[in-house]
Amino acid sequence: MTRATARAHPNIALVKYWGKRDEAQMLPAAGSMSMTLDAFATTTTVEVDGTLTEDAFSLGGAEQTGVALDRTTRFLDVVRSLAGDGRRARVRSHNEAPTAAGLASSASGFAALALAAAAAYGLDLDERALSRLARRGSGSATRSVIPGYAVWHAGTDDASSYAEGIEAPDLRLVIVTVDGSPKSVSSRRAMRLTAATSPFYEAWVSSTEQSLTEMVRACADGDVPRIGALTESHALRMHAVIATSTPPVRYLAPRSIEVFDAAVRLREAGVTAWATADAGPNVCVLTTPAEAEAVAAAVAEHGEVRIVGPGPGAHLLAEHLP
Ligand code: DP6
Repeated sequence: MTRATARAHPNIALVKYWGKRDEAQMLPAAGSMSMTLDAFATTTTVEVDGTLTEDAFSLGGAEQTGVALDRTTRFLDVVRSLAGDGRRARVRSHNEAPTAAGLASSASGFAALALAAAAAYGLDLDERALSRLARRGSGSATRSVIPGYAVWHAGTDDASSYAEGIEAPDLRLVIVTVDGSPKSVSSRRAMRLTAATSPFYEAWVSSTEQSLTEMVRACADGDVPRIGALTESHALRMHAVIATSTPPVRYLAPRSIEVFDAAVRLREAGVTAWATADAGPNVCVLTTPAEAEAVAAAVAEHGEVRIVGPGPGAHLLAEHLP
């Protein structure tokens, strides 16, 4: 038996990923950019065990079956074929964030699983190869391998679709949990629906590449107002294109919109505050370290608030989950 344990964190995209050009290889329709967080870690232990006939997967101590186990097994199949090792594995995972509450825990989950499984199966992968491997589990996991700010290059094949770190100003996100329950439609399903049915999908894809180019430039220039403006407008575009799917999907709740409005009012008062939201009702407000406490106080009436900043990439731990 060989085992390894890894930890990874979720990320919040400032330029969003929404849509795949190739679902088997998990190639995105466009590139994206995110901040890997310093909170809500997932820790995963993988034990490769030649005596097992099936993989096993527990999350927070609860044995998983169905879709969750299938996704883990399909991911381990990718690792096994890279390693040339057919042995099954026992995966134990612990999430510090509520699963499916819009904090992209599939990102931290598959980034941690990619690293722990690669190590347990004896693969020695550099950061790029690990990012490509994590992509096979969940698109957003591609970026959670990378510390701080990451750009995921869409690429055209497995080798060219990976994330890498970029320099950007030190920023904070005030996470406003307006609703902690699991999302109604998974991002994977809703993404398929948008690509298949929205009349605006092509425009979304081409404008995302444009937004990414502008975002990378704004980060290099250290231009915080530009980073914020791009973040907010890109999030609103994503929610707009999702809403134009058939049947329509809407992730933002009335209370989410209130937080977007609060960000506008804060800006009118001269405060750095730009809102974004992933596939769920919770909203993150992008601000500077110096203004984070004031922004958190200003939006606290809309939900539970938590200030997060740039965090570490996926890394191995010496301790294993029991
Ligand atoms: C709205 O990475 O969860 O958070 O690739 O199908 O696993 P799959 O989807 P996932 O989608 C994330 C969507 C998003 C935007 C983003 O993180 O860029």
